[in-house]
Amino acid sequence: MSAPATAEIDRARIAELTECEQHRLDDSTPGSKQMFERARRALAGGVASAYQGREPWPIYLERGVGSRVWDVDGTERIDFHNAFGSMPQGHAHPAITAAIEKRLELGTHFAAPTEDAVIVAEELTRRFRLPRWRFVNSGSEATMDAIRIARAQTGRDTIVKIFGSYHGHHDYVMVSIGVPYDEIGDREDYASLPYGAGIPQSVADLTVPVPFNDAAAMERRIEQLIDEGRPPACVIMEPAMMNLGVVLPEPGYLEAVRELTKRLGVLLIFDEVKTGLCIAAGGAVERFGVEPDLLTLAKALGGGVSTGAIGGTEEAFAVVESGKVYQVGTFSGNPLAMAAARASLTEVLTPAAYEHLDFLEERLLRGCQDVIDRHGFPGYSVGIGAKGCVTFSPEAIVDYESFKAHQDADLADLAWLYNMNRGIYMTPGREEEWTLTVAHTPEDCDVFVDSFAEMAADLTA
Ligand SMILES: Cc1ncc(COP(=O)(O)O)c(C=O)c1O
Repeated sequence: MSAPATAEIDRARIAELTECEQHRLDDSTPGSKQMFERARRALAGGVASAYQGREPWPIYLERGVGSRVWDVDGTERIDFHNAFGSMPQGHAHPAITAAIEKRLELGTHFAAPTEDAVIVAEELTRRFRLPRWRFVNSGSEATMDAIRIARAQTGRDTIVKIFGSYHGHHDYVMVSIGVPYDEIGDREDYASLPYGAGIPQSVADLTVPVPFNDAAAMERRIEQLIDEGRPPACVIMEPAMMNLGVVLPEPGYLEAVRELTKRLGVLLIFDEVKTGLCIAAGGAVERFGVEPDLLTLAKALGGGVSTGAIGGTEEAFAVVESGKVYQVGTFSGNPLAMAAARASLTEVLTPAAYEHLDFLEERLLRGCQDVIDRHGFPGYSVGIGAKGCVTFSPEAIVDYESFKAHQDADLADLAWLYNMNRGIYMTPGREEEWTLTVAHTPEDCDVFVDSFAEMAADLTA
């Protein structure tokens, strides 16, 4: 989607509005402030994961039903965050709640297989066109094990990833994400930069980043690695990037990646932890029609209970089935998670649900784009399935370099505050996108558009 002609936004006005909205949010969240004071004494930083942290304090939630969540001050908001895209089913969906309740009475964990795991694997096979599955507990576990499988299958150590892409918090992939623009290095030979402390440079060096949406650059880099005597085991990538807002693959890109990886003997891993059950019943495989060798799922799979999955071809999974790779875990296929996943897949994320999500998405994208066009706002709306965002950039963003060069981070921060102060619970973070649910209504989407319209008017008046 091309960016529209843009108005110049006054930086002082952004700062002024940010301060005003920040005060408004602080004043309406005293319960969260109090909870933070207590929490930080036992919980590092007052949160269970750094991704939940926020200055000056996080907004602590109490409950959620359908498309709504309530914070500890009792404020109701429409949820567009949905746990980083884990909840396209909406909160406390009756079918998932019933399945979990039923399972609770039957015992929640045995570290032994149950029928629900078989049913979920069968359903994933049908949706994602891959014949073999294993379960894990999170997206990080899924990508870690998929990479290990690829390494075992090929007997190679090096892996290729997309610069800027997030695939979880293990050492193999906490590389070349979210770094300052000037540290990226040369596009033909991007730097392998550990993301945060505690990751050995020697491990990071095994992970080689390449730009998104540039199959020719990927091919050149892989050929160079082959020449250097370190051919890669795999390319791990999100088929549509979901951590720079939303960056869609350009026409022909995924097909080209599939063709070149096959030709060069490199396994292709689609990390569908975010795209997976959110952009279509069969994720990117269905939406874009390109089939990887290995695929990872998590987030939305468990309907709110933590789980993850690795899918693969028979060939890729041979090293698992022979026992050559120890693909293991005490809580893998946990019965509670499998019961929730089964109900989610068979009763909630149905063909009708995806029609509803597409309908809402179209309304939200169009509504936001109308606001942009009306105000000559520097940005564009972009999305697919349940996921989307307004990208605050006058230029189209196609990869990490263009994101870093053009994204207006101050506008992204201000939009989050506008949303929170107008009844919209939105994913914190400048790189994040909305997630719609089966429980959202057209009117919910209109509230989002109204909030954005108010910000655009305030900035361009
Ligand atoms: C594409 C992708 N892969 C993997 C992960 C890691 O998942 P988890 O946080 O469940 O470990 C994430 C998390 O945001 C993700 O977005």
